[in-house]
Amino acid sequence: MTILVTGGAGFIGSNFVLDWLAQSDEPVINLDKLTYAGNLENLASLQGDARHIFVQGDIGDTTLLPELLAKHQPRAVINFAAESHVDRSIHGPGAFVQNNIVGTFNLLESVRAWWAAQPQDRQGDFRFLHVSTDEIYGSLAKGEPAFTESHPHEPNSPYSASKAASDHLVRAWHHTYGLPVLTTNCSNNYGPYHFPEKLIPLMIVNALAGKPLPVYGDGQQIRDWLYVKDHCSAIRRVLQAGKVGETYNIGGWNEKPNIDIVRIICQLLDTLQPRADGKPYVDQMTFVADRPGHDRRYAIDASKIERELGWKPAETFETGIAKTVAWYLANQDWVAHVQSGAYRDWLQTQYGAKA
Ligand code: NAD
Ligand code: TYD
Repeated sequence: MTILVTGGAGFIGSNFVLDWLAQSDEPVINLDKLTYAGNLENLASLQGDARHIFVQGDIGDTTLLPELLAKHQPRAVINFAAESHVDRSIHGPGAFVQNNIVGTFNLLESVRAWWAAQPQDRQGDFRFLHVSTDEIYGSLAKGEPAFTESHPHEPNSPYSASKAASDHLVRAWHHTYGLPVLTTNCSNNYGPYHFPEKLIPLMIVNALAGKPLPVYGDGQQIRDWLYVKDHCSAIRRVLQAGKVGETYNIGGWNEKPNIDIVRIICQLLDTLQPRADGKPYVDQMTFVADRPGHDRRYAIDASKIERELGWKPAETFETGIAKTVAWYLANQDWVAHVQSGAYRDWLQTQYGAKA
């Protein structure tokens, strides 16, 4: 048995692949286009491990996908591949439409054609698990109940609109063609290997570099944070026991305003790596112009996955953020390679002429 993971060199995908192979010997085919967000250094510990087969390619490649599916006969496809950064989607929405919508469409079509030709028992056992986000639900006002799975899709950014579109395609491929799909909608993740363009890693990295900590608008926007390894355990659980055609919200009941997140990171760094001048890191915090169309609040109601699948996060925000800050302090080479662009040479370094 084998699984096919897409986007497995990105932040969540690489954590998923590492955790999967730490817990199981079932091989992983890892298909990733290696956009700026794909970083094979995240998977350096799997060098020489025959259970991890990396393939550089696009989920929308309708020649490559049929070949991979025919060759490896996966029992599941787990689709992480996407453009994922809201600010980039504001500056350049085209890549989001192409990778997240057209890419998912082409992936679904490749998978459907291969799946339809499988014997019936294999068809029934197969799963297409689509990894999505709470941002498809739109923005909540203070005091409104958290998103449940039946909340309307009201995406506000090009990123969330492209993810909502991909969720709709996945749903339709189940209802129309019978493809056995599962969809997960998770809240904001944080943890190791998070690209330092997103709030938490950016604040850690900028703080250590003595740079400003840019808080958008009034900093009172609320996100619901989940440690990445808890997201990975939820996906494994949904894959194992989720009901075909269903969506599952994933979250850890951890709503926090952005400004609190920045302060918590600063306090941890004050203890773990005090500034040379003895001043607090929070002095580097600065308010900058708000993001256009900035969603005010996300909050996930995770009661369905807890009740029906018995899943619960292992980390609280306090334990998860402490692990995350410690990871960035211990992995400053990884940060330096991302910042210098050297991580993009890793394919050549690791795989040489085969790359
Ligand atoms: P990421 O940007 O760190 O990684 C995305 C990966 O996908 C990269 O390795 C990139 O090279 C690859 N990729 C992009 N387009 C591709 C294509 N067309 N074909 C093949 N590979 C492609 O993103 P992430 O934060 O790891 O998010 C992974 C998934 O989880 C995304 O679908 C995202 O929408 C979803 N998600 C993210 C969060 C979060 O907080 N980061 C929360 C909920 C859901
Ligand atoms: P981000 O990590 O980009 O995730 P998302 O927009 O998908 O939720 O941003 C998290 C929150 O932090 C969001 O409200 C925007 C805010 N933010 C800042 O205030 N400053 C920053 O430099 C960044 C990157 C984000």
